[in-house]
Amino acid sequence: MNCVRGIVRSTELPIGKDEGVAELTNMETKLGEVMGLAMAAQAATEKVTRLAEDEAPELVGKLEQMHSEAAETEQRCMRIVDTLEGKKTAIQEEASATKRKGADMMKIYLDPDSDALDGFEFLTMAEAGEVGHWKVLKAMTRSISDEEVAALCEWAIPIQERHFTDVKAASEQLAAAEDPAAVS
Ligand SMILES: [Fe+2]
Repeated sequence: MNCVRGIVRSTELPIGKDEGVAELTNMETKLGEVMGLAMAAQAATEKVTRLAEDEAPELVGKLEQMHSEAAETEQRCMRIVDTLEGKKTAIQEEASATKRKGADMMKIYLDPDSDALDGFEFLTMAEAGEVGHWKVLKAMTRSISDEEVAALCEWAIPIQERHFTDVKAASEQLAAAEDPAAVS
């Protein structure tokens, strides 16, 4: 059975034409997910910036760049979603659900004792997830009507790969500066 996600029940919506149930294709669902990950990435980079400010101020510039690229990614996704007549609400729902899951994961992973290294380790997982999701979306853009999404993937994938490389390098830099024998 097909699992249709992102459905908005018509009973929850105000009465209006074309505002009812929107079934998303797998590709549209994935588009919602990468948009939600870009939203979650903005919150995550803000949180890790606060952790890094005192401990590793030299890494803040990279975090700020990642934050602004995540914001641009969200905007570029939204520009495409805006053109998908009748699907906009359902895709935005999917994005919001993914953003909430990202926020929950961050809350579980980072506690009040977390340091900058913990923050960059969390970002390493999150950025790897973004790279993976964008590649899945790209693999789904097979028809000519998906041209704009395919172009967005071409733009986003190298940026997400760079994010992953940068946060992994930052984690290793912070870990190398720690005393492995110290009791934490
Ligand atoms: Fe990213």
